[in-house]
Amino acid sequence: MKSEELVSTVEAASCLIRNRRTVKPKQMLDQPVDEAIIHEMLENANWAPTHGLTEPWRLSVFTGEARTRLAAFLAATYKKITPPDAFKPNKYEGMSKNAMLAPVVIVVGMKRQESQKIPELDEIQAVACAVQNMHLTATAHGLCAFWSTNLAAVSKEMAEYVGLSGDDRALGLFYVGYPAVEWPKGSRHPISEKVNWVAD
Ligand SMILES: Cc1cc2nc3c(=O)[nH]c(=O)nc-3n(C[C@H](O)[C@H](O)[C@H](O)COP(=O)(O)O)c2cc1C
Repeated sequence: MKSEELVSTVEAASCLIRNRRTVKPKQMLDQPVDEAIIHEMLENANWAPTHGLTEPWRLSVFTGEARTRLAAFLAATYKKITPPDAFKPNKYEGMSKNAMLAPVVIVVGMKRQESQKIPELDEIQAVACAVQNMHLTATAHGLCAFWSTNLAAVSKEMAEYVGLSGDDRALGLFYVGYPAVEWPKGSRHPISEKVNWVAD
């Protein structure tokens, strides 16, 4: 890349990173997302860093009517795995609706390497990088997203629902859609509070 291209690339990257925002499904528009955009998000997920090139991300995309079945499965799973005293009817209601409120829902999975030579932590971190790549790509298209990791979304049942097995894991649901609200402003405490810089 030429140096002027690099400057604009850095600016664009910083702009995307800082403006990427979480918006929940109930604040998304009932507006479909072009399939080409979804493919671009998936392709960029595939370029996440990966220890040992295991490429552990497994992404199951739900659109259209398939979301109704996913929502019903989520609600039923929440009911099944939640002890009666911890069961919250409003959570159950949310689970039975959320998948229909976002035009695209991606179940995020982690496929465990057969030899298990690469630590599980590294595989989970690689999948998180893949999710970030999807989220940044979504931002570039004016799309918001929400990574949800409730108990049902990360359950063994959810992993099996998308064809994973054994030590593979479901790592949550990634809802994608156009915001029905003004693009939210993010906030962070200063990075200086979280950095320890050791020079000598
Ligand atoms: C691994 C992971 C899991 C998350 N799970 C949830 C969740 O279950 N429920 C929730 O409300 N937000 C969840 N979030 C989203 C955070 O709430 C959100 O990132 C945070 O509020 C900061 O907002 P921003 O993403 O717009 O900067 C999750 C984020 C990450 C990275």
